Amino acid sequence: MDKIVITGGARLKGEVRISGAKNAALPIMAATLLTDKECIIDNVPNLHDVSTMARILRALGGRVSFSDKNNRLIILNKNLTSSDAPYEMVSTMRASICVLGPLLGRLGEATVSVPGGCVIGNRPIDLHLHGLRKLGADIKIEHGYVAAKAVKRLKGREIYLGGPFGSSVLATANVMMAAALARGETIIENAACEPEICDLAHFLNSMGANIHGIGSHVLSIKGVNKLHGAKYRIIPDRIEAGTFIIAGAITKGEVRIKNANPQHLMAVVNKVRQAGSRVDVKGRDICVRGGRQVLPTDVTTLSYPGFPTDLQAQMMSLLTLTRGISVITEKVYPDRFMHVAELNRMGSDVHLEKGSAIVKGVKNLSGAPIMASDLRASAALILAGLVAEGITEVRRVYHLDRGYDKLEQKFSLLGADIKRVKE
Ligand code: EPZ
Repeated sequence: MDKIVITGGARLKGEVRISGAKNAALPIMAATLLTDKECIIDNVPNLHDVSTMARILRALGGRVSFSDKNNRLIILNKNLTSSDAPYEMVSTMRASICVLGPLLGRLGEATVSVPGGCVIGNRPIDLHLHGLRKLGADIKIEHGYVAAKAVKRLKGREIYLGGPFGSSVLATANVMMAAALARGETIIENAACEPEICDLAHFLNSMGANIHGIGSHVLSIKGVNKLHGAKYRIIPDRIEAGTFIIAGAITKGEVRIKNANPQHLMAVVNKVRQAGSRVDVKGRDICVRGGRQVLPTDVTTLSYPGFPTDLQAQMMSLLTLTRGISVITEKVYPDRFMHVAELNRMGSDVHLEKGSAIVKGVKNLSGAPIMASDLRASAALILAGLVAEGITEVRRVYHLDRGYDKLEQKFSLLGADIKRVKE
């Protein structure tokens, strides 16, 4: 298995180009199931989760090809031969659940493995099922699978989609996709308004759907009889961009992040500024100049436009190096703190108190062999390795490959001493 080996100490300098958003690409790929016509999707990041979704579409009877030019996916789901998303695939990627809504919308039935446990905490799918049931689907959980059937065409309804931790990104995606082909109007209240959900809604509209309220917490979806093919370009990955903003800050470097959407990152820009770095927005570029000292800052993760949970671990790496105490509170996944033990092995001083991490700043971190527990934790440990004294070896990097497009090459081009080693 590969590991990433980093010798800490380099100040990152230069430009980095941001790839397309993983979390927009995955539901958009699922949405192509709603039409029998060809869809062309550009700016798709080349990463493992995208390959997994492509395998699922092929297992359902779709044709999927990827070309490096424009990072283009061409998908044709003309004759779907199956409505079953098998355990072997779903178990490796929770986002597979978002084929449920489009299969139900197009075929009137779907059998999708219930996604299993997850290292970032409990991740139920009750809101997905509640929304699809409201549209008229009959849903049972049998033998580890969600078996959904719509005897008649789905029917638009008013659906409230809030859960104990606010709105749900992929439940909103699932219900919106199913409602696109339903009879009548669906109103989703407490819809997620993450940029990736807006991207999905824009893609659906480019296929002929009729969705309004995009970007707000109330979505109106007027069902249509048929959707057609579309050509679409995925938005830049705000989590990748945020990871590089924090990388510039933690290494006291000078990094220009190109091809981002700064509007999607205001909470992050604001926090990194509060932590003592200079961050300037120039059109679609974000320029970071790391401050001489990192300042303690409290961070609370929230759904968009709050500070994203997917950057909490990376921000913690930065805040381990202040001259004070910061409190990081997780309001989306209260147990998403698996990276804490590994950071502490590198010399940080973080302890957990029910949903919060108390981060006492230390003078420096020291390199160590460490284990990545999930995608964003991997990125956080790499950031810590970039500033730690000596050598850091990050193992289980398959997590990283699931969601970052050539991360170590990008760091290397910015001057980091980082390499992938086969074991
Ligand atoms: C999406 O997951 C992202 N995944 C996650 O990114 C991200 O962390 C998360 O949204 C929050 O922003 C993709 O887009 C593929 P949620 P999702 O449903 O949609 C609770 C990454 O690293 N909830 O918005 O599955 C849930 O437990 C990944 O790229 C219910 O209670 O997350 C959580 O507390 C990890 N019932 C909260 O809602 C449900 O039915 C928000 O989760 C569904 C969710």
